[in-house]
Amino acid sequence: MDNTPVHPAPSAPAAGGTTAVGRRRLLTGGALTLGGALAGAGIGAAAADGSGQAATAGEARRRETAYGTQKVPFHGRHQAGIATPAQAHAVFLGFELADRTDRAALGRMMRLLTDDAARLTQGEAALADTEAELAALPARLTVTFGFGPGLFEAAGLDDQRPASLAPLPRFPIDRLQDRWNGGDLLIQICADDPLSVAHAQRMLTKDARTFARLRWAQRGFRRGRGVQDEGATQHNLMGQLDGTANPAPGGDAFAKAVWTDAGPRWLRDGGTTLVLRRIRMELETWDAADTKAKEFTIGRRLGTGAPLTGTAETDPPDFDAKDALGFPVISEFAHIRRAHVGEERQHIFRRPYNYDDAPAADGRPDTGLLFASFQRDIGEQFLPIQRRLAASDLLNQWTTPIGSAVFAIPPGCAPGGWIGQTLLG
Ligand code: HEM
Repeated sequence: MDNTPVHPAPSAPAAGGTTAVGRRRLLTGGALTLGGALAGAGIGAAAADGSGQAATAGEARRRETAYGTQKVPFHGRHQAGIATPAQAHAVFLGFELADRTDRAALGRMMRLLTDDAARLTQGEAALADTEAELAALPARLTVTFGFGPGLFEAAGLDDQRPASLAPLPRFPIDRLQDRWNGGDLLIQICADDPLSVAHAQRMLTKDARTFARLRWAQRGFRRGRGVQDEGATQHNLMGQLDGTANPAPGGDAFAKAVWTDAGPRWLRDGGTTLVLRRIRMELETWDAADTKAKEFTIGRRLGTGAPLTGTAETDPPDFDAKDALGFPVISEFAHIRRAHVGEERQHIFRRPYNYDDAPAADGRPDTGLLFASFQRDIGEQFLPIQRRLAASDLLNQWTTPIGSAVFAIPPGCAPGGWIGQTLLG
């Protein structure tokens, strides 16, 4: 089972047509699902412009609600939210376990949270959902759970902790703030709609709170759905195309790099690991650099994302190319040279989100990247790259890691099962 594909909800009107249920609901206006959608979508617009063309308004409404009803399967070999094409909005929640949360309590917690996630992602209200109507439009909602190093200790299962699942060593570039570090339990919530994310966050934190205390919440965003071609590489807030040299989800190279195939048995067969780094962008000084300097720093062009040795984004960088003076065209210290890894199995899969919090009183931005990378093994894949970058990467002048956390991401589960069962069950 693979939970990557996206299915429209059964009751969703198919493109260009209206289902019987959809039409009836539209006419009676009775369904909660559509109540909110109607208010925000085409119907109001048609009335406002006075066209009175119900069919046109209906079409507009269907187009606008098509994204809202889309679902990503929850059950499967892998948890959703990893190979799933990145949704527009995300929140990463890091929890600290309460003292009394032992292995049995962790099992109860994960059963409860799995049940919530399985329902919410499929457009159904969670049990005891007090705002059930908010669940109706999941907008590709995914909920992904992760276990931090402390969870293994709490469960008395330290021997089951993957060897390299430990707080990352302090790098010289780090300026870590404790409020963004660590965490025993991760809940990553992503959807194409911020309201869907907020509702899932509320339901899940409510149910987690008997067992754990929220340590941090990190909100991120990408381009809104439909703003550009799906699959096109997106810009980050430094104006760079970010994600070009990433293994493509679903492919063989992705599987080899991302799904854990060694170490503790419970994590194999569909699990992975996540490194989450909160990296501040020093945009004020970045603004002062000219385009040439910015491109030299990364080794790629800002406009096209092409390597400095090519013309198209997909051209492979030529790290041996020299300029007329005999200097490397892609600097020894350019980000893509320092981060580059030859062997496919050693690649990491980056699934980053931008953050942009309230600026300081003097207008300085609080902006950066929630750098999220999935890999089989943190020690074998992430650490060597991070060490090379920390040692000498031109980009370090404009980026500062201020938060750091690591998690094992358990395999997915089948209906009736729960996330973490292979470890805690
Ligand atoms: C705010 C911090 C960062 C920014 C703005 C950034 C930006 C970029 C950009 C623009 C590219 C080139 C396009 C692409 O292939 O995606 C790139 C490539 C890459 N970055 Fe970063 N990056 C950051 C941090 C990191 C970190 C912390 C790591 C890992 C430790 C990393 C690993 C990579 C890798 C593996 C590549 C692909 C290199 C290749 O061409 O093979 N990046 N990054």
